[in-house]
Amino acid sequence: MLSYLHGYHAGNFADLHKHAALWLILTHLRKKKKPFCVIDTHAGSGWYDLGSDQAAKTGEWHGGIGAAQAGKNAPEMLQDYMDHVSRFDPITHGREYGVRDTDEYAGPFYPGSPFIVREMLRDEDELVLMELHPRENETLYHRVKRDPRIHLHKRDGYEGLVAMMPPAIRRGLVLMDPSYDVKQDYQRAAHSLQSAWDKWPTGTFMLWYPILEDGFDADLRKSIGAIKSQGGVLCAELAADHGGAKGRMRGAGLLVINPPWQFDQDLDVIGSWLAKTCKLPGPGHHTTRWLVPAE
Ligand SMILES: C[S@@+](CC[C@H](N)C(=O)[O-])C[C@H]1O[C@@H](n2cnc3c(N)ncnc32)[C@H](O)[C@@H]1O
Repeated sequence: MLSYLHGYHAGNFADLHKHAALWLILTHLRKKKKPFCVIDTHAGSGWYDLGSDQAAKTGEWHGGIGAAQAGKNAPEMLQDYMDHVSRFDPITHGREYGVRDTDEYAGPFYPGSPFIVREMLRDEDELVLMELHPRENETLYHRVKRDPRIHLHKRDGYEGLVAMMPPAIRRGLVLMDPSYDVKQDYQRAAHSLQSAWDKWPTGTFMLWYPILEDGFDADLRKSIGAIKSQGGVLCAELAADHGGAKGRMRGAGLLVINPPWQFDQDLDVIGSWLAKTCKLPGPGHHTTRWLVPAE
């Protein structure tokens, strides 16, 4: 059963941390002329209206992108990404971005992972999206169908990823961003990433996970930390130091297999600024550590 809808959480501190990391990796991939591919196994609906009822119900974005936009002295390497978010306005693109005459929009808008990657794609690059939720998939379909570089599949992201390995374009990134609304997501994510990495050991893989009081994040770190990749496995966490209500997120983490050079340092600068600037459930900080050192 798919009950999670990202519209309630888009732009919160955890989304921002993940998307800033995504932007860093894409910036690195664009440095070489050779084409790259991105596979986004849990794509969501592509972009979000922060003026919608969904977003208003939780108000989470105010403590994330809202706080960051109002914050002072943002690190230089976050600037490009922040500019992209501030400029992002699907209405000006109309049907090309899947804007429908029948829907009402309020704005401001926030790009999800598909529209962050889209911004960074060159003509020769490719983006593969998987989204299983029927309504989210349909919305996303209308938003990406006019772009020949983007291929959307309505299929299970864990199985789909393994079936697609290795990709025809051998440089690139897998983003796995499950909703963790069922406990099995932890195990399925770990198995899928292990199998995919076996078939594509030079790819970069980034897995997002929540840090909850009663979560299973330690199991994930153990499983992914057992992948002895030459490029190493990095763990980056943005979290409040204590507590958080039961079932509520205390923070969020990223596990990155084969991260680009100096990604750990850049993300730590960004994450430390986010820890000071965003609204976490309490005072917190950012940490980066290598679960498997790069050779
Ligand atoms: C956290 S949201 C994705 C957000 C998006 N990656 C972003 O950063 O903007 C997770 C999405 O995964 C979808 N989903 C859940 N289980 C899935 C599965 N097994 N395969 C593919 N998509 C799935 C949900 O419907 C939801 O839209």
